[in-house]
Amino acid sequence: MIKEEILDLKKKKGVSILAHNYQIPEIQDIADHLGDSLALSRRARDLDADIIIFCGVLFMAETAAILSPDKKIIIPDPKAGCPLADMVTPEALRELKQKHPDAVVVTYVNSTAEVKAETDICCTSANALEVVNSIPKSREIIFGPDRNLGSWVSAQAGRDLILWDGYCIVHQMFSADRIRELKKEHPGSVVMVHPEVPPEIINESDVALGTGGMIRFAGDSDSNTFIVGTETGMVYRLKTIYPGKNFIPAFSGAICRNMKKITPEKVLRSLKTLGPVVTVPEKIARRARSAIEKMMEIK
Ligand code: 13P
Ligand code: SF4
Repeated sequence: MIKEEILDLKKKKGVSILAHNYQIPEIQDIADHLGDSLALSRRARDLDADIIIFCGVLFMAETAAILSPDKKIIIPDPKAGCPLADMVTPEALRELKQKHPDAVVVTYVNSTAEVKAETDICCTSANALEVVNSIPKSREIIFGPDRNLGSWVSAQAGRDLILWDGYCIVHQMFSADRIRELKKEHPGSVVMVHPEVPPEIINESDVALGTGGMIRFAGDSDSNTFIVGTETGMVYRLKTIYPGKNFIPAFSGAICRNMKKITPEKVLRSLKTLGPVVTVPEKIARRARSAIEKMMEIK
């Protein structure tokens, strides 16, 4: 059985497996640590392990590598990218910065290391509001690459942001009509959505949270039924933690093909070869690290 082979080999080689909440069930089941993008980066940095296999998309493994330059960070499939992260290039961001030379640049961690290097301060879905609120009102803010997260933060913070026009193709798939139907079918249910969904979907929700926030919220809530507006891997994750509660995907086709590129076979291969290793040139990593660490000082 591949699962036993993986568990045995990771123990023998002293490897820790970190996995994002959107990973397929077979990967979630073999992970040492599961979490959202912020929690996983922190975990990678603080773990007492020299070798980490990161089951997620490339920007997440890169973030871990930037924060842990002395550790070997392995991604089982380096082609697991994030189309949202690729919607902004360092050149295009530099151009926008030239038009707003006094603006503070806030970049979602769903971005490449090169774009982080052009950034003043990073944020995730778990801390975007706190990051924006930490910047004096007198300063302009360039926020990217996710326009939906940006417009949600802008509304919450009550201030204008210069938004990059990027979006997540998976979180763009939800339909407000379908959520209204589901609410009727499940009276008393709570609608939780990720802030990467468009504003009309947030308007139909009770709460907008990152994946780690959803786990905490579902645990604290008295409600028994939740309509989940994010990537479907999250539904398995929630069901595993709270088997007595009901989690209904707002759209079962909301699947991130990139997250799903990580398979047990590739993890096993990575354990055998201890590769592919994620490397970020130190010139880029140093500047990106500063933007990530500034974020971590806030929340
Ligand atoms: P979280 O940080 O909320 O886990 O989200 C990451 C992501 O890629 C959402 O699409
Ligand atoms: Fe990127 Fe969207 Fe996949 Fe998250 S769900 S990794 S934002 S493509």
